[in-house]
Amino acid sequence: MQEQTIAFIGGGNMARSLIGGLIASDFPAGRIVVSDIDERQLESLAERFDVQTLVDNHEAVRRADVVVLAVKPQVLKGVAEQLAPEITADKLVVSIAAGVRLSDLASWLDGHGATVRAMPNTPSLVGSGVTGLLAAEGVSEEQRSTAESILRAVGATLWLEQESQMDALTAVSGSGPAYFFLVMEALEEAAMEQGLDAAAARLLVLETAFGAAKMALEVDEEPAELRARVTSPGGTTERGLAALEDAGLREAFGRAVEAARHRSAELADLLGKQ
Ligand SMILES: NC(=O)c1ccc[n+]([C@@H]2O[C@H](COP(=O)([O-])OP(=O)(O)OC[C@H]3O[C@@H](n4cnc5c(N)ncnc54)[C@H](OP(=O)(O)O)[C@@H]3O)[C@@H](O)[C@H]2O)c1
Repeated sequence: MQEQTIAFIGGGNMARSLIGGLIASDFPAGRIVVSDIDERQLESLAERFDVQTLVDNHEAVRRADVVVLAVKPQVLKGVAEQLAPEITADKLVVSIAAGVRLSDLASWLDGHGATVRAMPNTPSLVGSGVTGLLAAEGVSEEQRSTAESILRAVGATLWLEQESQMDALTAVSGSGPAYFFLVMEALEEAAMEQGLDAAAARLLVLETAFGAAKMALEVDEEPAELRARVTSPGGTTERGLAALEDAGLREAFGRAVEAARHRSAELADLLGKQ
């Protein structure tokens, strides 16, 4: 991948994070081209990362082996249709636009075969994301590996087999950070109701969330086993967990993920019908 040139079409938040991650993992800055309609974005990217910047999407694509489409989903159709003539069969296209299906993207790109859909989540902006990837049939093994390396610059990656799984992934990891933020808010409020001040509640909740996630990632045990290990019979955790189960926590998450998955499919239909 080091010898390839990557063009980012759209140099906003997500492109900036991907570029930062790529350069931190030793990808040469000189092999990154960014085009954006906002010249201030380009100036700031050139200053921060010493990448090539352009206002001309077409020229960016011409210089690239890999094209990362990083504009908002609502403008992707127009951008893709304009760029289609420059996207020759040898170029890999990676779209990070939320909710835009591979089949729609391929049709906007005049049937281009080497297309990967990536769905990163917001913690990618701080290098701790997780991205679902889906490849069209025309994507080679080498191109799959290139797409994966780009997204791995901002976190973990996971390949999916079917487009419908993207809606489930969107409902879990795409919307998931907000579910955890809500849990943090609720736990902070509960901490304050029990007499802790706001600063103490914030510190305890955030460090506990971080520590629990770190343990779950690093210790070779299922979350259920970890939970059982901190739940002494007759102890405080047992009481607290019983209250959460009584309140229907599992059902609430089941409903949340189902509702979000359904909405993800609806939005993808709308974006495809533009
Ligand atoms: N941020 C996230 O957490 C996240 C998570 C998952 C997926 N994504 C996906 O990542 C993509 C980018 O999101 P973002 O948060 O980075 O958005 P963003 O910060 O708004 O970046 C998009 C950039 O593209 C520019 N742009 C608009 N039209 C353009 C055109 N025709 N040609 C070139 N550049 C153009 C925008 O300029 P203007 O601002 O002047 O319009 C902006 O600088 C989206 O499709 C989004 O669905 C983002």
